[in-house]
Amino acid sequence: MIKLSKCHVGDEELQSIQQVLAAAYLGMGKQVFDFEAEIKAYLGTEKEVICVNSGTAALHLALACLDIGLGDEVIIPTLTFAACFQAVTAVGAKPIACDVREDTLSIDLASANKLLSPKTKAIMPVHYASHVESIETIYDFANAHQLRVIEDAAHAFGSYYKQSLVGCQGDVVCFSFDGIKNITCGEGGAILTSDTKLIERLRDARLLAVEKDYLKRKAGQRSWEFDIVHQGFRYHMSDIMAAIGRSQLRKIEEFRKKRKEIVACYLSELANLPELSFLSLNYEDIMPHIFVVRIANNKRDALRAYLNQHDIEVGIHYKPNHLLSRHKTIYRLETAEKAYEQILTLPLHVGLTQDEQNKVIAKVKEFFHA
Ligand SMILES: Cc1ncc(COP(=O)(O)O)c(C=O)c1O
Repeated sequence: MIKLSKCHVGDEELQSIQQVLAAAYLGMGKQVFDFEAEIKAYLGTEKEVICVNSGTAALHLALACLDIGLGDEVIIPTLTFAACFQAVTAVGAKPIACDVREDTLSIDLASANKLLSPKTKAIMPVHYASHVESIETIYDFANAHQLRVIEDAAHAFGSYYKQSLVGCQGDVVCFSFDGIKNITCGEGGAILTSDTKLIERLRDARLLAVEKDYLKRKAGQRSWEFDIVHQGFRYHMSDIMAAIGRSQLRKIEEFRKKRKEIVACYLSELANLPELSFLSLNYEDIMPHIFVVRIANNKRDALRAYLNQHDIEVGIHYKPNHLLSRHKTIYRLETAEKAYEQILTLPLHVGLTQDEQNKVIAKVKEFFHA
């Protein structure tokens, strides 16, 4: 089976894990703090980096520490991973599904605008397929309506937006380092912000909100006499996860090159198929996490079955959240609903060989008799 996505780990990660095991400290310690400093240096940002144990935890923690909760609403593009919607309901707030743009499948601000209410407290743009959609316009919109912005950048670690790496700018930016992301920690995530009050809350809240505990852990100590004021969670990153992440970060430029080469090959080889189209993404700037195409004339499911039959795994990113029982809306989101019938994600990962990609391309062309 040609895998849709896969992690790319090797001896470096193994050695890093062995070092952590040898040090016999597996919790949140030096590896995590070093990883945070290395992410900060890699991105070239003044923002603080707070590492947690998943991208979902990052979103949930950000919402909780911004005191978004019962009675509040958060606008989210419906075409995203379930994590966004579940993070919002986890704090007791209501996710408000909005539509996506036809060209990029990122948030449609015209739709968001129609869904604003006095209860709207935040907006959660998703950098779908690693592409950042006109972020200035999103911040203008948020500022005009006094909303916090929580960027879901789970797909976009390593992507550029106007010469700076994603995470350097913005209000609150959340990354995921799960098993198949641009870099992985096994599972993991990070929150970036320069809001000093929020930074303190996040640092404590990821470990049960034990006040200033992270400072103790940084010094290799534990807190015995402490206070807790806010709700906290058991969301801290462990040294094992951080050790894997540090090894991956050292290889990010190699990963970027490979991911971009695969996408460039798809873009040139599949360019002239009348019933297959690409998203209008900024392919030069992105470090692509997924490669999504659109298939016209109701042929997506037949192509999907054909590729599966030939041992090629494909995906659908995503079923719109407003079609799920938990988040069902009484209104339609037509662009996302149409996209959901047409989108197909083709294999993309650092270990994909040229032969494997050639087979994917050949089978797609064969399906279209091209
Ligand atoms: C768009 C998006 N948001 C959030 C997440 C959640 O990240 P994690 O899997 O690390 O919890 C993911 C993970 O796939 C994602 O793709």
